[in-house]
Amino acid sequence: MAILTAIDQYIDKKLAERMQALSLRSLADNHTLPDFCSNDYLGFSASSELKEMINSFLSSFPDYPLGSTGSRLISGNRHFTEELETEIASFHGSGSSLLFNSGYDANLGLFSSLPQRGDTIIVDELAHASIIDGARLSYANRYTFRHNDLQSLEDKLKAAKGNIYIAVESIYSMDGDEAPLKALADLADTYGAALIVDEAHATGIFGWQGRGLINHYGLQSRIFARVITYGKALGSHGAAILGNNNLKTYLINFARSFIYSTAASFHSHLSIKMAYKMLRESDFQNEIRSRIVFFKQEADPVLTKFIPSASPIQSLLVTGNENAQKLASEIRAAGFNVRPILYPAVPVDKERIRICLHTFNSEKEISSLVTLLKEIL
Ligand SMILES: Cc1ncc(COP(=O)(O)O)c(C=O)c1O
Repeated sequence: MAILTAIDQYIDKKLAERMQALSLRSLADNHTLPDFCSNDYLGFSASSELKEMINSFLSSFPDYPLGSTGSRLISGNRHFTEELETEIASFHGSGSSLLFNSGYDANLGLFSSLPQRGDTIIVDELAHASIIDGARLSYANRYTFRHNDLQSLEDKLKAAKGNIYIAVESIYSMDGDEAPLKALADLADTYGAALIVDEAHATGIFGWQGRGLINHYGLQSRIFARVITYGKALGSHGAAILGNNNLKTYLINFARSFIYSTAASFHSHLSIKMAYKMLRESDFQNEIRSRIVFFKQEADPVLTKFIPSASPIQSLLVTGNENAQKLASEIRAAGFNVRPILYPAVPVDKERIRICLHTFNSEKEISSLVTLLKEIL
């Protein structure tokens, strides 16, 4: 038997705990079954049209660099990237945009660099880990408020000190429900707080041509900053922070996940550019809406077991890691790729099967999945 060091023993203990709680994570390559679990809501990641647009652009630049060669501040910046940022800002109706390598990096950079000691960050309890981790890295006071509960937020606002930041998602990644954006903006105004909205799961889905929910409600001028991500409906990778030009300059100077990281490749930025072109050329929002409406009509009798949502994320609550894993395996065995979302990714007793709908899911597939769910439930 190998002699374990204290560190090995610690690792063993933590993994054993996870195993016992049935929450040990592992990697798999599951791409054969119909996809009801990915964030590729509009099918852009496999779109031959998008690939063709990217390839045809690349063929006119045979010398394009594979890697960016450095951070944006050293050797990784290009006119192409800056023009893309101008295009992104103009599409979403924002003063400026700054690209990050991922949504995780964007939230980490924003929340760790802006709020200072003596300031306050108030976060919806269901906000994404990247927001929470960014806030943890700052020296500001941190509070959470009950999910989408304005009274709970106001209680925290009353106790807040310094510059105040409120962090929410417009569409919540695990529940698929919508934040009360207008009321949040009103409350932020009343208390002089800066409202920051993560639009990861609304981009491409809501608003004209997929501009997001802030645009849909015409709230652009009332939001301090927005986070847009490209690994979901836009089928690519990366993220942008939208805000005024001063915020952009601040982030370039203080956001460590921007400063100390190699810039994304030309190919990544080109994919983002072309994904925006796709958005402008076709009404994908109507297509995804029709799938959501169809799913909800079909699922009507069992819909009460789902978290209410008008987005492509439809979460079926199944209490307990074991039950959620068992149900997901059963559904996969019947031929549909779904994933259980387990504690600790979601709160205890809120484990679930997170069904994601896509424009490429046929009505027949959706209908067969729902028939199966009705039989099982
Ligand atoms: C709401 C939200 N914000 C940020 C992120 C992180 O984005 P990325 O996957 O680009 O790192 C995610 C990803 O799951 C998300 O759901």
